[in-house]
This record gives sequence, C-alpha cells and structure tokens, in this order.
Amino acid sequence: MARRSKSKTTDSEHEKYMAAIEALNLVKDGMIVGLGSGSTTNIFIEELGRRIAEEELSVFGVPTSFESRILAIKNGIPVVSLDQCDVIDIAVDGADEVERKSLNLIKGGGGCHTMEKIVDYYAEEFVVIVDSGKVVNVLGEKTPVPLEVLPPAYAPVLKELLKRNGAPSIRMAEKKRGPVITDNGNMIIDVFIDLKDGEKMERELNTIPGVVENGLFTKVDKVIVGYKNKVEILQR
Ligand code: A5P
Repeated sequence: MARRSKSKTTDSEHEKYMAAIEALNLVKDGMIVGLGSGSTTNIFIEELGRRIAEEELSVFGVPTSFESRILAIKNGIPVVSLDQCDVIDIAVDGADEVERKSLNLIKGGGGCHTMEKIVDYYAEEFVVIVDSGKVVNVLGEKTPVPLEVLPPAYAPVLKELLKRNGAPSIRMAEKKRGPVITDNGNMIIDVFIDLKDGEKMERELNTIPGVVENGLFTKVDKVIVGYKNKVEILQR
C-alpha cells in the first residue's frame, strides 16, 4: 500500500490527511476504536491499517457504515460489533460542519449519522477530524441537518418540520430513481432549521415520531482541524 503522495492530493485532501494522522497518535495498543464514515475517516482507516501492520498492534475497529466496515476489512483492521465489545475507547469521525464556538457539528452528508452517533456517543472519547473548510462561525447556515426517517412516516415528519419553521427536503438519489436509502433501509430528510440552542434541537428533532436519529451532534470531546502545515485542536 503506497503512502499518500502530497503532489497528487488537493489542498483539502492534504488537510484531511494532516487531521487523520494527528488522530492516529491517540490510538494505543489494545484499544477498540470507533471508525467513522466519509472521505476524512477513510484516510484515518487506511493509515490505522498500515500502523497495525507495521507495529503489530492489537487494535479492533467498530465500523459506523457499510463503507467503513468494508474499508477496515480491506486494510487489515479486525472489526467487531457493539455487542462484542464492553467499551469503545475512542471514536474518530468526520463532520460536514463544525461550529467554532460551541463545537456542535452537523454530520450525515453521507447518510450514516445514525450508526455514527451510536458509536461516537458510546465511545469514551469522541474525536472529530476535519479539513479547515468545515469550520464555521454559525452552524447550519449552508448545511442542513439530516434526519434518518422510517419510510412510512416521511409525510408527517415533513409536516412537523414545517410547523417548527424548518425548510425540509427529501434527499433524492443520483444514480437511482427516488430517495436515498440508508444502510438501515430508511429515508433521509435534510432540514434547514434554527440551531441556536443546539442541545435542545438535537433532543427535539428525535421526539418527532418516525425520526430514527438526527445529524446534529453536541457531545464532541475534541476537534482536530487540518491545515497545510499544522493542525489546530479545538476543545470545550
Ligand atoms: C457520513 O454520514 C458523514 O457524517 C461524514 O462523517 C461527514 O459527511 C464527513 O464526510 P467527509 O469526511 O467526506 O467530508
């Protein structure tokens, strides 16, 4: 497996790599590691696989999606499910947006946020890795919050979101007719909605019957932001 050549990567890919490598330093022999989903976490998974092989580490991964499971297996990371481990020592995951002041996140651009939230929130430490373009001053102005929704409930969920002054839309597939269907067989509704009180909105969205989980995350421990020549650590 060839190491990433900087000359062949874009600036944002390089920043993702910088953040992923920094997170790798947090993984110790014997740990169980939550493996997030998305292009940034994919870099982390590849590099973790390389480190496990080079240093003969005993590390297990808990994947958060079909994609991260397949990638972990391909890179030699033994995977376990939630019922096979007592504790997840650390979870490393990406994000679509990070609010600098609150460290609240929007996740689910890849439709995997339900399993991500389960693994990330159950972990002893939840670490997010992003390129610098993901950090914003006000969360949710450009990126909607994804909701995973049971298909029979999509219409009343849309109505409930409109009642809360949200601007919802069903996420449509690009290479298939009809809606995006998640790893769990559900639909995604993306909603622009007031996120001033992030913790309250995270709780409230999950009270709408039919919503399985929302992509607003308010319990992150640490965010590692990658730049060209450095990383920045954001902590509460
Ligand atoms: C997957 O559903 C998402 O939560 C990803 O973690 C998020 O979209 C970040 O992805 P990238 O690392 O590809 O930007």
